[in-house]
Amino acid sequence: MTAVPTPFEAPIDPALLARMANALFTALPGEVPGVQAPVQLAPPGSPLASPAGLGPSVPGTPIPQGQVPGANLLPASPTPVLSLAHRAPALAPHAPAGNGVPDSVFAPVPGYEPRFAGGVLGVPEAPAAAPYYFLPGGAPAPGGADPLEALAQQPFAPPEPPRAAPAVPAGAQPPAAPSADPRFYFVDAVVLPGGYTTPATPGARESGAPGAPDRHPPFDVHAVRRDFPILSERVNGRPLAWLDNAATTQKPRQVIERLAYFYEHENSNIHRAAHELAARATDAYEAAREKVRAFLNAPDADEVIFVRGTTEAINLVAKSWGGQHVGEGDEIVVSHLEHHANIVPWQQLAAAKGAKLRVIPVDDSGQVLLEEYQKLLNDRTKIVAVTQVSNALGTVVPVKRIVELAHRAGAKALVDGAQSVSHLRVDVQDIGADFFVFSGHKVFGPTGIGALWGKREVLEDMPPWQGGGNMIADVTFEKTVFQPLPNTFEAGTGNIADAVGLGAAIDYVQRLGLENIARYEHELLVYGMDCLRRIPGVRLIGTAADKASVMSFVLDGRTTDEVGQALNQEGIAVRTGHHCAQPILRRFGVEATVRPSLAFYNTFEEIDRLAEVVRKLSPRRA
Ligand code: ALA
Repeated sequence: MTAVPTPFEAPIDPALLARMANALFTALPGEVPGVQAPVQLAPPGSPLASPAGLGPSVPGTPIPQGQVPGANLLPASPTPVLSLAHRAPALAPHAPAGNGVPDSVFAPVPGYEPRFAGGVLGVPEAPAAAPYYFLPGGAPAPGGADPLEALAQQPFAPPEPPRAAPAVPAGAQPPAAPSADPRFYFVDAVVLPGGYTTPATPGARESGAPGAPDRHPPFDVHAVRRDFPILSERVNGRPLAWLDNAATTQKPRQVIERLAYFYEHENSNIHRAAHELAARATDAYEAAREKVRAFLNAPDADEVIFVRGTTEAINLVAKSWGGQHVGEGDEIVVSHLEHHANIVPWQQLAAAKGAKLRVIPVDDSGQVLLEEYQKLLNDRTKIVAVTQVSNALGTVVPVKRIVELAHRAGAKALVDGAQSVSHLRVDVQDIGADFFVFSGHKVFGPTGIGALWGKREVLEDMPPWQGGGNMIADVTFEKTVFQPLPNTFEAGTGNIADAVGLGAAIDYVQRLGLENIARYEHELLVYGMDCLRRIPGVRLIGTAADKASVMSFVLDGRTTDEVGQALNQEGIAVRTGHHCAQPILRRFGVEATVRPSLAFYNTFEEIDRLAEVVRKLSPRRA
């Protein structure tokens, strides 16, 4: 049989492609400086440190020949279906449908190495990588690898204590020290308006000598932003500044296109039919489960249960595990920081069982009081459920220590990762909890999908919480035999496409590198907190040394709605209100706050815009 030529067989001249791409990027308008001029993250004394925001563009260097931007957009070659054991029907190998060529005539280029070889089973991948990354000056990445991959693999040096702030001129408002001990973040010094220098880690530099080049290539936020179509929207005539990331995150093109690809080429119910599309859909869904496993560093993909989101995951644990293991007089411990989703299901359980809910208090910065927590633990404590990052305050909670103490008391532990997974690397084996939960939409994935991870022995000791199709092995009117994990907890048709979309979102953040994200966001957060703190009449709610993303505040003489509306007039989106966390706001004597919350695609300039609006509203402005 003669093979029909396919896109894979077209001769690809990398040099030509590189020249074309470079010409295209060069022709793009000025608001995409990242392509030709990666933005340096405010080296000391740079114009970035000024209130005006971003520094000037640095002339870029053409992409060297042989470096092919967007090479990762090549469709993956077909991978034989390794049918997923008990979950998928066994079918013949199938080719990706993306090129429109029927399976039977597919012939990959000899020697062509698929970019995502083996990453998914028979499912052509939507490109996971952001295609617009270049090392500074167009330098080739080490070993010719994808520059983004190289960036994600940069090693990190241990944190060092922050530098002392310089003397504040007489009459100036002294800046309060931001995070005194940046635990997750490795930053270059940023000189903020007023002379405050953010903590730096000279150890992150190659030689440690002042002025030595940073081992970490700059995080090119403008390049990243181009992956998010919605960030180009205008609101009220102004560029959208999306500072409502704690409520939900925006989606990169890679996720949007992966969803479209699923519905165009793979859509089917899973695990059930003996046809081609059932295999594609099953493979895509199970590949997403594996991505979640790797993202959390969980030991086994069967321990990952797809659910609607964090709220459903906690309800599942409370109803199933709690229904079985919590009885009269038992105690459930949560922290004062919890979102309603990590309070109400436990309250319901406690009410149904005659158990008691106990609350770990926080200090005035919004950090949990570990000594008080230890006093709450006793042999009636059955489970401790805590958030890793507070949605209302941004506090990063020492969950590993909390879990350790819970286990010492003989209790189980659940960690709510809804607000953490997009900001810092999570390793469930290191944290040691019995359950970890998160939502896809908070980590640049679709709404309506999330995951519950649980230790196998704990999950296997729990009854199914919903009954129906998919979770059964055999049904008679006398009795039902259930499927093993993970299907035990996935009754009915799940949110297949969005699970696949979540997998694409995880690919995206993995390739950016959680460490790179954390480092960049920390600089934004330090800068943003300092800008807000300097505005007369602003009271910051939540000032813990360990913080991520969230900058809650109230402004004297203005309601939070007034502030939110004024920001909206300028195209700036923030959440105002109680943030589904009323107890912690009341702990600070307020019913509502204005809550800007950051993600890696936000800029210093957006923070300047935010501060400018708040400054104008300040009743005590100079
Ligand atoms: N939990 C989400 C928030 O904090 C909805 O805004």
